[in-house]
Amino acid sequence: MTSTWWHDAVVYQIYPRSFSDSNNDGEGDLIGIRNRLAHVASLGVDAIWLSPFYQSPNRDGGYDVSDPRAIDPRFGTLLDFQQLMQRANELGLKVIVDLVPNHFSDQHDWFKAALASPPNSPARNRFHFYDGKGVHGELPPNNWESVFGGPSWTRITESDGKPGQWYLHLFDSSQPDLNWNNPEVNEDFEKTIKFWLDQGVAGFRIDVAHGLAKDEIYQDHPDPVGLTAALRLDVTDIDPEYRKQLLSDIPFFDRDGVHKIYRGWRNLIDTYPGDRFFVAEAWVYPTSRAVRYVRPDELHQIFNFDFLTIQWNAEEIRAAVDKITSEFKNVTAPPTWVLDNHDSPRVVTRLGGGAIGLAKARALAMVTQALPGNLYIYQGEELGLEDAPVLPEHRQDPIFFRTNGVQLGRDGVRVPIPWEGDAPPFGFAEFNSWLPLPAHWRELSVAAQQQDSQSTLNLYRKLLKIRKSHPALGGLAGVSWQDAPTGILRFRREPGFELVANTTDAEFKFTTAKTLLAASMPIQTTGSDVTLPPHTTIWLSE
Ligand code: GLC
Repeated sequence: MTSTWWHDAVVYQIYPRSFSDSNNDGEGDLIGIRNRLAHVASLGVDAIWLSPFYQSPNRDGGYDVSDPRAIDPRFGTLLDFQQLMQRANELGLKVIVDLVPNHFSDQHDWFKAALASPPNSPARNRFHFYDGKGVHGELPPNNWESVFGGPSWTRITESDGKPGQWYLHLFDSSQPDLNWNNPEVNEDFEKTIKFWLDQGVAGFRIDVAHGLAKDEIYQDHPDPVGLTAALRLDVTDIDPEYRKQLLSDIPFFDRDGVHKIYRGWRNLIDTYPGDRFFVAEAWVYPTSRAVRYVRPDELHQIFNFDFLTIQWNAEEIRAAVDKITSEFKNVTAPPTWVLDNHDSPRVVTRLGGGAIGLAKARALAMVTQALPGNLYIYQGEELGLEDAPVLPEHRQDPIFFRTNGVQLGRDGVRVPIPWEGDAPPFGFAEFNSWLPLPAHWRELSVAAQQQDSQSTLNLYRKLLKIRKSHPALGGLAGVSWQDAPTGILRFRREPGFELVANTTDAEFKFTTAKTLLAASMPIQTTGSDVTLPPHTTIWLSE
């Protein structure tokens, strides 16, 4: 297999609204990103992935796009983007952008035209408009639930003022699903792909990549509410067998029709020079179906989300790594590793929060960074941030509103980054930030952590540097497990690298002739005797 830069790249995810504000309106922007890009480069990553900064009414954090080839004024201008690209180039960072093909915003010109046009018109045919069931069409065409809660259909008022057709939205009602059976939709997306490739981007993250094809619309699902619950990572009180059954056949996700679309896009991207790539956000069940998205003529990568839920447990981690390794053994695509992102709890919080959560998160990061494949790091993960508390009046996530506050949603993981200084917003903006930063983040700011040799920031920098320079790390060669007691994870990668992780509450003592490269917490060594504290990982080298 010929190797390419994205086979073992480290990609840093930037959520533009929360990274850095240059014009003091309380929201991050492209110039802000450009000004702070040296921080990202100092981590030793290869690329940045920018979550959407396109024109959008921002009902779903920019994933409701009203013009995918225009920049939203809140983030700046195309010139700002080009300057950001130039800065990234100077710093040796590639740039990946988001592509949101499952839906547009209801403020997109196409949707406005659809509302102004009659049923069955070409303008309506770009979306999923259907007549309702019931004598007067008063019932939705089917009973599917929105992934964000509530019904996935909204009825419109026709131009004569009467209630009319219904449109499908798997997410918020402001995000009408596109009809991928209509070739016009693909033509428009190919235009968008070319537009950003011509701007020099190195690739795309495809949002909801498993959602583009849908089954027969006029067919109800036997348990739509159960299905929505089964799709949520945080719902655990559901019978595992039943969950498996629900997830194995979802009428709007992971349908065979999506693959034809990706083959076309692959042909398109292959006409561009440079090693550019697509990574799919595709939640598939069982996860062994993931490889279908990365067949040689399809996409290049698919996110592996197993580590979004993995426990800090040696046996579980080993099984997850083995599972991916065996699932991916027949494709050339590299595995990917993700500890958190803009949709999921921050890893420190998920592993219990506080000092223990942080210790486990640092130790898990060391395991993840030593694995073969690509690594995605969500902004603030390198600072060991936790989810921040968000007051009800500050909440913005449609999940919060569509579930009447039953689910808090994702705002807590989208609170801006603390850069420096003694008081919020800690250099993110001059005065205010769209979500307030907690006061105790003073100690977690980039400037504060810079001074502290034991900080999470300096740990990430050190690890990523070793990952680049050690001959056994990077690359796609697998791990070989070493015998270890319960709760201890131990593997080698050749030549000469060894990882030992203690996932238990007790110390683990062992002897080694190898040199210590890095440790997630300070550890004691006496000669060749090592004492590994609870929840600690170390890297060793011959
Ligand atoms: C993806 C995005 C998420 C968004 C959803 C709908 O899952 O990551 O933030 O809300 O798609 O576009």
